[in-house]
Amino acid sequence: MPTRHKLLSINDVTKVFTIGGGFQRARLKAVEKASFALEEGKPEIFTLAGESGCGKTTLAKMILGLLEPTDGEVLHSGRSVQDLVKGDQRDDFNKKVQAVFQNPFETFNPLRPVDTYLLETARNYVTGGSNGASKNAVAEALDLVGISYSLVEDRYPHEFSGGQLQRISIARALITAPSLIIADEPVSMVDASLKMSVCNLFKVLKEEHQVNVIYITHDLATAYYVSDRIAIMFRGNIVELGPVNTVLVEPKHPYTRVLKDSVPEPDPSNKWSGRIKLSGFEERDFMRKGCKFAGRCPEVKAICEEEDPPMVAIGSGMVKCHLYAR
Ligand SMILES: Nc1ncnc2c1ncn2[C@@H]1O[C@H](COP(=O)(O)OP(=O)(O)O)[C@@H](O)[C@H]1O
Ligand SMILES: [Mg+2]
Repeated sequence: MPTRHKLLSINDVTKVFTIGGGFQRARLKAVEKASFALEEGKPEIFTLAGESGCGKTTLAKMILGLLEPTDGEVLHSGRSVQDLVKGDQRDDFNKKVQAVFQNPFETFNPLRPVDTYLLETARNYVTGGSNGASKNAVAEALDLVGISYSLVEDRYPHEFSGGQLQRISIARALITAPSLIIADEPVSMVDASLKMSVCNLFKVLKEEHQVNVIYITHDLATAYYVSDRIAIMFRGNIVELGPVNTVLVEPKHPYTRVLKDSVPEPDPSNKWSGRIKLSGFEERDFMRKGCKFAGRCPEVKAICEEEDPPMVAIGSGMVKCHLYAR
């Protein structure tokens, strides 16, 4: 029997940036030994959540092959993403893994009608040039996001709302029939009233079109609503990972608990109405030895200041914390 590879494997992935100069030069581990995997044939919405600066975008760029890990590896269907994007399988990889970014107004050139982007994607990756077939492919993708072709034809980005334009950029991503979409803060510039409609779209893509979504956010409300599994990041580390109903309802890691308690809302449907924000960004948390959360942890022990905590499996999840280490 041929080996069945996972759709995506992230194995101990680390990215170190060198910041500052001269005596101030320092190595910042923007992502440190991150690991998780998405199974083939079991589409899910996997959320990476954490406050600004915790390493979400850096990890997303490594999954997309846009940044090379300093250590560890990202495998797509068993093959190194770095090899895929540098080799002749690049187009195939780009078809299967698509990205949606935060600001749709930056995705599209303001001076170009948006339909030209979609047609170009269809020609380059799907239809090989035919105009009629390209239009059909674009119309089909737009149909999936609930927008008709006539609405985008010859229209410029400024003629749309942020929510509409984000739907159009998701349609562009769908043209190549990807198995994975990486959506980096896709609703943070979208009106509150339209956020859920974009989130619902991800659910439909997963349930009806077998698309996996890595949803990146600092907004726990949408994360709770949309995710199957969630990974909580703090200062470059995944500190807790598991089914969203476990991690956000019965958090184990002190950081996840602090996040939960920082949203004083008794109604469970509104539980996650807040954004993740603990305090200002502090570089020295990245630099500290031991647990990165030790400086703020209400349950800190001596060992936390000294030793990096191991990732411990508990029930259906994982927690990186000395409280649970044996
Ligand atoms: N190209 C870079 N050079 C140096 N530092 C960077 C670079 N990109 C990101 N960083 C730093 O890495 C950390 C994580 O950044 P990022 O991945 O953008 O976080 P997030 O997306 O969670 O807000 C931050 O401290 C950021 O300043
Ligand atoms: Mg980011």
